[in-house]
Amino acid sequence: MREAAPLAASQNAGASVDSSAEQPVFRITNLKRHFDVSPPLLNRLLERKGRQIVKAVDGVDFEIYRGETFSLVGESGCGKSTIAKLVVGLNGTTDGSIEFEGQDIARHSRRDMDAVRHRLQMIFQDPYASLNPRWRVGEIIAEPIQVFGLLEGKAEIKQRVKELLEGVGLNAQDSEKYPHEFSGGQRQRISIARALASNPEFIVCDEPTSALDVSVQAQILNLMKELQQQHDLTYLFISHDLSVVYHISDRVGVMYLGRLVEVGEKHELFRRPQHPYTRMLLDSIPDLEMTGRARTPVGGEVPSPLDPPSGCAFHPRCPHATARCQQEVPLPIHNVERGFVACHAVEEGRLIATD
Ligand SMILES: Nc1ncnc2c1ncn2[C@@H]1O[C@H](COP(=O)(O)OP(=O)(O)O)[C@@H](O)[C@H]1O
Ligand code: SF4
Ligand SMILES: [Mg+2]
Repeated sequence: MREAAPLAASQNAGASVDSSAEQPVFRITNLKRHFDVSPPLLNRLLERKGRQIVKAVDGVDFEIYRGETFSLVGESGCGKSTIAKLVVGLNGTTDGSIEFEGQDIARHSRRDMDAVRHRLQMIFQDPYASLNPRWRVGEIIAEPIQVFGLLEGKAEIKQRVKELLEGVGLNAQDSEKYPHEFSGGQRQRISIARALASNPEFIVCDEPTSALDVSVQAQILNLMKELQQQHDLTYLFISHDLSVVYHISDRVGVMYLGRLVEVGEKHELFRRPQHPYTRMLLDSIPDLEMTGRARTPVGGEVPSPLDPPSGCAFHPRCPHATARCQQEVPLPIHNVERGFVACHAVEEGRLIATD
C-alpha cells in the first residue's frame, strides 16, 4: 500500500529548503527570448493585424551545479533549444541574466564573450549538419584548437586530435576521412571530440541522441557519462525523451510553453512528480521504476506560443484547473531541495503524492 501525503502546504510557498551553500556554475534568472514573427508592415495594415511575438522563453529561472547533468524536458516547441543557444551565447536575450561563475554573460561585450567561449561548448542533434562535409575529420577537430590558440605546432595538434579521437572510441586514422564515411553514432562521437577540443568545462547537449537508433543512443549516453567523469564536465542536457533524460540526468527541469513548471532531483521527480504536466508526461512513457503507474498518452495539443493561454498556460489541458488557474500565473514553490513546482493546486494542497 502506498502512502498518500499532501505534496505541499501553502506555508511552503516562496520558502526555500535548499540548505546548500555551494555556488552554481550557472544561475539563470528571469530569462526571456521573444521572436518578432510579424508579417511585413504593409500586410499588417491591409489585414488589420498587430505585431506577432513568439514568447519562446518567457521568464525562466534555474541553476546548474558543477559536475551535474541538468536536463530540460518538454514537448516540441516549448523553448528548449532557444535556452540552449542563449546559455552558450549563440542567441541574444530579450531580458534576464545568465550568470556564469558570477558574471552575467548576457551583458558581456563581444570581446568578453570571446574570453569565455572556449569554456562553453555545444553538441547538436544532427551531427551531419554541424560537421563541415568538405573537411577531413582531423581538420574539423583541430579547428577549435587553432581558433582558440590552444596549441601551435602541427605535430602537437595532430597528437591532440589523435588523443581526442581515441577518447571518444575512434582511432587516429579516422582523422583522414570525411564525415560521410561514418555512421550516425560515429559522427556524434566526432562532434563530441570537437566539443572537447577546447577543454570546455560546460557542454550544452541539444537532443544529441534523438536521431540515433536506440542501441546506439545508449552507447553515446554512456560515453558522455564517462567523459563527464574524466574531464570534470557539467552538462545542460536537452531532450523531449524522458527515458533518455532518466538515464543521464541528476536534476530535471520540465518546460511548458516557454516556462519551467517543475524542477527536481531525477529520482524524486520521476517517483513523486508534483506538477500535473509532469505527471501527464510520465504517464505516457514505459514505467521506468516499475512503480505500477498506469500508462496513458499525453492528452491534448500544445497551444500556439503566439497566443498562449492566460494564467497557467497548462490550464486548458489540466484536469485540476480552476478559475484561479485561468487568471493567475502560478509562482514557484520551493518545497524540494534544488527544485520547485509552479502550480496552484499544489500550493492549495489539492494534489496528493502517489509514490
Ligand atoms: N529564430 C526563430 N524565429 C522565430 N521563432 C522561433 C525561432 N526559434 C525558435 N522559435 C520559436 O520558438 C518556440 C520554441 O522553439 P524551440 O526553442 O526550438 O523549442 P524546442 O527546442 O523545445 O522544440 C517555437 O514556437 C519556435 O517556432
Ligand atoms: S496551476 Fe492550475 S492549471 Fe496549472 S497545472 Fe496547476 S492546477 Fe493545473
Ligand atoms: Mg529543440
